[in-house]
Amino acid sequence: MKKIIKNICCIGAGYVGGPSMAVIAHKCKDIKITVVDINEKRIKAWNDNDLNNLPIFEPGLKEIIKECRGVNLFFSNEIKKTISESDMIFLSVNTPTKYKGIGAGKASDLKYIESSAREISKYAEGHTIIVEKSTIPVRTAQTIKEILSCQKEKELKKQNKSFSVLSNPEFLAEGTAINDLLNPDRILIGGEDSVATDLLSKIYMNWVPVEKIITTNLWSSELSKLVANAFLAQRISSINSISAICESTGADITEVSKAIGMDSRIGMNFLKVGPGFGGSCFKKDILNLVYLCEKFKLVEVARYWEQVLSINSWQQKRISKIIVEKLFGTISEKTITVLGFSFKANTNDTRESPAIDICLDLIEEGANLKIYDPKVEKKEIEKIFNQKLKNKIDIKNVNCLDSIKEASLDSDAILIMTEWQEFKEIEWDEIFPLMRGPSWIFDTRKILDKEIIDHNKFNIWSIGS
Ligand code: NAD
Ligand code: UGA
Repeated sequence: MKKIIKNICCIGAGYVGGPSMAVIAHKCKDIKITVVDINEKRIKAWNDNDLNNLPIFEPGLKEIIKECRGVNLFFSNEIKKTISESDMIFLSVNTPTKYKGIGAGKASDLKYIESSAREISKYAEGHTIIVEKSTIPVRTAQTIKEILSCQKEKELKKQNKSFSVLSNPEFLAEGTAINDLLNPDRILIGGEDSVATDLLSKIYMNWVPVEKIITTNLWSSELSKLVANAFLAQRISSINSISAICESTGADITEVSKAIGMDSRIGMNFLKVGPGFGGSCFKKDILNLVYLCEKFKLVEVARYWEQVLSINSWQQKRISKIIVEKLFGTISEKTITVLGFSFKANTNDTRESPAIDICLDLIEEGANLKIYDPKVEKKEIEKIFNQKLKNKIDIKNVNCLDSIKEASLDSDAILIMTEWQEFKEIEWDEIFPLMRGPSWIFDTRKILDKEIIDHNKFNIWSIGS
């Protein structure tokens, strides 16, 4: 049994693996951490001398990578060797929704978890602690244990191999990942092996107050991660549903959010109106929960959580319809400037971004789009539309520009999709002469101070008011 953790491997160098291991390396100088990935391009980007080329953008990440990379933090494609040298292995691989076969459209595809477990089972040496960091369905730890012990017990003994499996879900949000990792609300560790649990707790105790480290059984930990995301998404769907009532009644969603949020039982967080939640996880994790409910024949519970997703798609469709209606019922051959393409501010991640579906609706109606995002690369946006557009000719209606001004030239309407700070500071008087009249602003994030915009120049639609 291990007394001390000296070498950590993290399988998966993505939005979770990269930042979470960087923070452990930053806080635990005595531990050598190697983040491995099958994606060679991604590892190359993590090792790039120019820190502006890291594969993900997260405020504060560059500084930590600069301090730790090559000292006690390494990025590598040498998966087998790294596994064999490690005392503890974090699984931070992707767990997307299955798109075909049994459970397609709902269940999690665990093939990356399974292939990682198989690699570990082959190449690990001595006693190894496996930590589930990926978000997974309840009882996945059981699957991992079975794969790890698939080599005959005698064989394992001969090779002196043994394993403990812990669940340690990640609660970071993109855009604030480094701060979330440095100051977590809680660290959740699920497991049956108290020695392994203590070893993992000790790592976090280097910077997290001990009262914030909670331990549970494996299944509570796995389920809590899905439930946390479902509750967060539920609040967004709730407030977005109320935004439509505000628009019909003269109430204002910001005022309603504040009025209800000041009730300490409700709380202020996650009551911000918007174009629906995006990101790689809320939808996938609720679908996963729905699938589990159906599997356990809890039909009413499944239908309840499905509604959170229905409201989310409804909110996006609602916005597309409002744009068309306001622009005299047709946007064919009109130009619409889209400001923001990532799923939220301060990230370059576009996965499930509400901008994607709303843009597709607008293209379907015949609009020309001029898109600007401060961090998402043009080629990424073009790739998404190349994959999603049914009619490939429509791709000529999508243009990605380098500045807000370029994107506003000859435009009929500006659609604010993401709450980037840059959009809150736009000098609207400079934008107005570039546009075609009547000029519209559609603010789906309610970030604009309507008082400072000249209402003689612009028509403004602001969500939830
Ligand atoms: P990601 O797609 O950015 O990264 C996953 C990485 O794993 C990829 O680079 C992929 O190449 C690699 N990988 C897959 N199979 C592998 C294998 N067998 N060997 C080596 N590398 C392999 O995903 P992510 O956003 O980092 O999410 C990872 C997990 O964490 C998911 O389960 C997700 O639900 C969960 N999560 C994500 C966030 C988030 O903000 N993105 C937050 C909390 C939890
Ligand atoms: C979310 C959770 O917040 C994390 O705790 C969790 O670890 C993560 O999912 C995950 O499991 O992947 P993330 O998706 O990165 O993090 O970002 P959030 O800040 O939660 O935003 C998600 C979406 O909801 C964004 O599109 C955002 O714009 C939207 N949102 C958020 C609102 O519309 N209103 C709000 O009040 C808050």
